[in-house]
Formats: sequence, C-alpha cells, structure tokens
Amino acid sequence: MDLLEIISKRRSVRQFLPDHVETEKIDYLLECARLAPSAVNAQPWKFLVVKSPEKKALLHQCYNRDWFAVAPVYILALGDTGRSWKRKADGKDHCDIDVTIAFEHIVLAATEKGLGTCWVCNFDVELCYKLFDLPAGIIPVAITPIGYPAHDLETVTNRKTIREITEII
Ligand SMILES: Cc1cc2nc3c(=O)[nH]c(=O)nc-3n(C[C@H](O)[C@H](O)[C@H](O)COP(=O)(O)O)c2cc1C
Repeated sequence: MDLLEIISKRRSVRQFLPDHVETEKIDYLLECARLAPSAVNAQPWKFLVVKSPEKKALLHQCYNRDWFAVAPVYILALGDTGRSWKRKADGKDHCDIDVTIAFEHIVLAATEKGLGTCWVCNFDVELCYKLFDLPAGIIPVAITPIGYPAHDLETVTNRKTIREITEII
C-alpha cells in the first residue's frame, strides 16, 4: 500500500474482534512513533501500552463508552512539557503538536498492518491524571484502542475538496 492508500483506508474503528494483537505489530507502531519529527528534536513523548485488565479498567473509567471497552490493547500518548520546545516569540508550547505527529504515525502504521484505531481525546483528563498517577507537566494527549476491526471499513470520502481547503497565493 502506498501512503495515500493507507491514509484513505484509515477510519475510526469502534468495533473490534477479540483477537490478540501480535507484539511485533505493536513494536512496529512504536518504532514508527519513535522516528517522528519534533520541534528541536525534543521528542517530548511517552506511549503507555495498556494491556493488563487492571490498567484497561482504569482507562475505561477515563472514557466510559461501551464500544471503548472491548479492544485488546490501547495506547495512551503522553506529552512532557518539561522537554518540549516553547517558541521564544510568543511562548507557544509545541508539546501537543509533537505528540500528535507521533500518534498519527502510530495510527497510520496500524492501518498498514490491518489494525483498527480511533483517536480519542474526549476523555476525562482530570481522572486520567489521578488514575495513572501522572505528575504535573505531563499531559495526556490522546488514546487509541487497537485491534482487528470487526467489520470491513469504507475508505474515506466525507472530506472537503482540495479546492475548498487550498488557496494558491
Ligand atoms: C483529535 C481527535 C480527537 C478525537 N476524539 C474522539 C473521541 O473522543 N471519541 C470518538 O469517538 N472519536 C474521536 N475522534 C474521531 C473523529 O470523530 C473521526 O476521526 C472523524 O469523525 C472522521 O472519521 P474517520 O476517522 O472515520 O475518518 C477524534 C479524532 C481526532 C482527530
């Protein structure tokens, strides 16, 4: 698959087969995240691979949806604002941007490997800090469940056109 094909095939998956996800595949996703670019190469990220029933239960409390409770594995992406680059001109912290790029690498790599994912940001951040014992300065950026999709997925169509999103100046 070329990159456009992978991007077109990636959809938010909210139903998963119970099948085990191979450790080599998770390692591949993490390698793709590891190689992501970041401002001043700060790499201000950490990825919690959530596999144990106990930690999964904590994650489900943070995002309490039936569909979210059934994936074999999850990744919680954390940003370290103590390491991330802040632009001098306006102090803008690039932590979120860096973590987001690496996280999308994970998501696209998962698609390449036939795995389903779903970006989740609408979780209870305060509870996440508490249940995962996150120190100040560490930000939980996004979560994705990972597993084999229970259904075939339609390729992406519901997007604005290039004309709508582009201006040549
Ligand atoms: C930053 C971000 C946050 C998202 N948060 C959630 C979420 O909390 N819960 C959810 O079900 N989907 C979430 N989504 C999935 C979007 O709803 C989905 O990507 C969008 O509707 C397009 O559908 P598609 O991913 O199938 O192409 C999120 C997506 C992004 C990029």
